[in-house]
Amino acid sequence: MGIDRCRRGSASLPRRRGPAGGLCRSAAVALALGLTAGPALAADAKAGRQQATVCQPCHGLDGVGRNPTVPNIAGESELYLIKQLKAFRSGERRHAQMSIIAKGLADKDIANLAAWYAAIEFSVKMPE
Ligand code: HEC
Repeated sequence: MGIDRCRRGSASLPRRRGPAGGLCRSAAVALALGLTAGPALAADAKAGRQQATVCQPCHGLDGVGRNPTVPNIAGESELYLIKQLKAFRSGERRHAQMSIIAKGLADKDIANLAAWYAAIEFSVKMPE
């Protein structure tokens, strides 16, 4: 979440208030200085979109599960997505397919994929 939206809205940054605005501003400053060492700052949703072609058959490019055993990940928290992908990669969480897929992902790939899926907007409608 966060950072990518901050980048898109960077034109209006100086006028933003509150914790989110502060985060955006410091991210923008860090980017301007070329300080992209932090994992969150390195996330690139566009690169994640490219990499998501691997995930597409099951999760779709839009993050909506393509069959009932596949969870929706559209708009899911970036932190949660990163945590789950790392857990699959380390073996802390196991699943026949995801464990194999996550093994091939570098930290940067995980950050980018999480940035992509977290950036997808969705709406919710509760049953009557
Ligand atoms: C072959 C189908 C398949 C592919 C390809 C696939 N996934 Fe999954 N993914 C699943 C299934 C099934 C689960 C549910 C795992 C479980 O039941 O524990 C899952 C779970 C996840 C979760 C955890 C979601 C949650 O709610 O806890 C994340 C995050 C995830 N996948 C991301 C990805 C990403 C990113 C890619 C591409 C790099 C990818 N997956 C590719 C089938 C797939």
